[in-house]
Amino acid sequence: MKVRESGMPNEKMWAEFFEPEKILCIMELNHNVADVVEFGCGYGTFTIPVAKIVKGTVYAIDIEEEMIKRVAERANEEKLNNIKTLLRDFVNEGSGLEDRSVDYAMLFNILHAEKPEDLLKEAYRILKPGRKLGVIHWNCDPETPRGPPMTIRPRPEQCIKWAIESGFKFEDRHDLKPYHYGLVFSKPGKE
Ligand SMILES: C[S@@+](CC[C@H](N)C(=O)[O-])C[C@H]1O[C@@H](n2cnc3c(N)ncnc32)[C@H](O)[C@@H]1O
Repeated sequence: MKVRESGMPNEKMWAEFFEPEKILCIMELNHNVADVVEFGCGYGTFTIPVAKIVKGTVYAIDIEEEMIKRVAERANEEKLNNIKTLLRDFVNEGSGLEDRSVDYAMLFNILHAEKPEDLLKEAYRILKPGRKLGVIHWNCDPETPRGPPMTIRPRPEQCIKWAIESGFKFEDRHDLKPYHYGLVFSKPGKE
């Protein structure tokens, strides 16, 4: 089941809302990170730059064939061979990844899902202990040029509460100007 209000504007417009390299750096996605999963990769706005930074595989999951094809095409153009695209419904089928198998989980612009706790629990399951989860979302400001309706747009405090209830430890909050906030969590324990 596609997450409500998760359709995208055109690729060029979407790209204008972010400075992906800057955001990835703030969100602790650096060259020390190995395997990454992105839940709902869209056009690959973050998938492509993150694949250039990390030392492992980037699992890019999306329910839309068009999005998966676009990410594969961009990876090919940029000669990136560490992106694994997965055409998959993570709401109904989960990520399909093994327990404790990835080093970073990206939930970018997706936690307005009907059941955000289920996504967080799935991210928790597949993360290795001690590793990070990054959440970014649109600021709770009706003036932002896009973003889910205010009635379902999660506030940072709400995301923090859901994540803690799912087992995560809250680490940091960032202002990802001009339109987003970022939250970094870790999965307690050691590998
Ligand atoms: C708002 S976009 C965010 C894309 C990307 N994370 C970004 O920030 O640029 C959400 C993406 O999640 C995908 N999506 C929605 N529901 C999904 C589901 N149940 N399983 C897999 N992908 C899903 C949509 O097709 C869309 O590409």
